[in-house]
Amino acid sequence: MVKAIATPNIALVKYWGKKDGQNMLPMNNSISLTLDEQLKCIADAEFADEKDEFVVNGKPANADAYRVLEYVRKTFDTKKYFKIISDTYFPVAGGLASSAAGFAAIAFSIAKLLGEEEGIELTITEISRIARMGSGSACRSVLGGAVEWLAGNSDETSYAVQLVPFEEIGLVDVIGILSHEEKKISSRAGMQQTVKTSKLYLERMKTVGKRLDIVRKALKEGDYETVLIEAMKDSDNMHACMMDTKPPLSYLNEKSLETIKRVNMLNEREGRIVCGYTFDAGPNAHIITESKNAAEAEKLFAGIADEIIVSEIGKGPRKIL
Ligand code: PMV
Repeated sequence: MVKAIATPNIALVKYWGKKDGQNMLPMNNSISLTLDEQLKCIADAEFADEKDEFVVNGKPANADAYRVLEYVRKTFDTKKYFKIISDTYFPVAGGLASSAAGFAAIAFSIAKLLGEEEGIELTITEISRIARMGSGSACRSVLGGAVEWLAGNSDETSYAVQLVPFEEIGLVDVIGILSHEEKKISSRAGMQQTVKTSKLYLERMKTVGKRLDIVRKALKEGDYETVLIEAMKDSDNMHACMMDTKPPLSYLNEKSLETIKRVNMLNEREGRIVCGYTFDAGPNAHIITESKNAAEAEKLFAGIADEIIVSEIGKGPRKIL
């Protein structure tokens, strides 16, 4: 049996739409920061006798999860069945990117099991591809630090690469839990609808390449002001595309909007960009800032957050047993 731990990631330049649902190929590259082990998933993998068994957070897994195991057999030429047990250990219920951490832990544990017991050694690129089949953004959680998912144009060419190792990034993600509700429309269904119906999304596709170039360069150079400015613009742009979807999708709540206001007020007062907000498909707020400003960022959540988690940049998955 193999046990592996993985953590979520927060996208600075987002993925919201696929060009190939079967192979889970995204419309555009995306860039994220891997988070630390305060938010973690642990997956146990072992071989099963006659059929796959898959339990996620104590419940039978869904079809996406079983599809990952089919993919592994087909792609890496094994006839083995798997027994997978995956659990999320977040200090809060719901609302954070648990599927990214979950599928990264699952992919990592399967890869280590195949390596140790079958001599099938998988590269990190191959592990990223396995995670991608479970949940697109999970392919970025197989690496630590700042990570880019290369969209590619086939199963073999769509995977994540590291841009900057964790120890070279002076940023933290101050996460404000603003709601415990599960989202009503899944990312998968929501993004499909956006691609189908939003005109604004066509505009996004014309500009996202430029933003990726700017953020990639700024992360490598440690130009965090630029990173934060572009992260805020990209989050606003993705949420605008969601609103432009027919029928409109809105994942933010009043407290999310209040957070945006407070971040803008702080930056205006200071006359520079101290903090940058970003939101995935949910109301919980991520305030990215330099480590030295973490306390200042925490104060922005006064009276609106049920809980605050200050996450450093994570090292990526590891085997724990
Ligand atoms: O990987 P999914 O299907 O959970 O989609 C994630 C999409 C966002 O979190 C909204 C953006 C991203 O790039 O992580």
